Amino acid sequence: GTRKPVLLLTRRYPDAVMARAAGDYEIMTNEDDHPYGVDEMIRLAQGADAMLVCAVDQVPADLIRGLPDSVRMIATFSVGTDHIDLAAAKERGVTVANTPGVLTDATADIAFLLLLGAARRAAEGERLIREHRWDGWAPTQLVGVHVTGKRLAILGMGRIGQAMARRAQGFDMEIHYHNRRRLPADQEAGAIYHADADEMLGIADFLSIHSPATPETRHWLNAGRIARLPDGAVVVNTARGTLVDDEALIAALRSGKLAAAGLDVFENEPKLHPGYAGLPNTFLLPHLGSATDQTRDAMGFKALDNLDAFFAGREPPDRVA
Ligand code: DGY
Repeated sequence: GTRKPVLLLTRRYPDAVMARAAGDYEIMTNEDDHPYGVDEMIRLAQGADAMLVCAVDQVPADLIRGLPDSVRMIATFSVGTDHIDLAAAKERGVTVANTPGVLTDATADIAFLLLLGAARRAAEGERLIREHRWDGWAPTQLVGVHVTGKRLAILGMGRIGQAMARRAQGFDMEIHYHNRRRLPADQEAGAIYHADADEMLGIADFLSIHSPATPETRHWLNAGRIARLPDGAVVVNTARGTLVDDEALIAALRSGKLAAAGLDVFENEPKLHPGYAGLPNTFLLPHLGSATDQTRDAMGFKALDNLDAFFAGREPPDRVA
């Protein structure tokens, strides 16, 4: 028969994903699961027909231009594509596909966990017990922000924003959203559309960010926009750290302008801006949005579905370049 395509796996992916990949491809694996740098990735891609990368693999233009001609497709194990220079991929004729849909619920679950955890001071409470500092229930101890019935503003009403809205409905929240396009009425499910995101901020008891990271949305949540939020608001980010100006957010958490923030993503992760470290009113997670057993398997299978389609001469269903 024909030879199997050679697939470079940049990281260790879930066992079921590795097993399926090994059946259909000649795989090149990353034995110790360390993040590859640009030069290393170019070197390792020699002889590869395709690459399976993930959201923390930077795939800038110089990497894409340095790839051997044999590499014709890059599948990313992520819905986000901000780490890949899609224009450079198009220019080189390298096909790119992502994994939308399969991580929607897992990510919205983490967003709601952050919303509740930040509002209700879960991390502070957890530390109090774990550090043996809890001296018993008290009427004024660790009093947080009430969630049920409050107003939630969602920035970016794509799949994950909509899944966040469904969760918030269960908490009788009044849902407001901004999106580049207004949703069709049957998808809005009672959520209130704001054509102007800045204007929406004025009513946001809670703000949850679900928009893609682009040059235009870099540091979108800055000091000026934070000032528009009501005093005591809570901010949640499960999208990308670059959407938030850390200096401004830290200043607002420190001054008490904002009650709390729940963050799953950070600019320059895994490095944490030192300003966050001493702040009690943050609920921080290490980019766990999609980290469930079935979601991570589904992401890998979706990436492989796209690769399979490409090598069978079909259009990859989730092609983005
Ligand atoms: C994504 O899919 O873009 C996440 O950031 C990684 O799961």
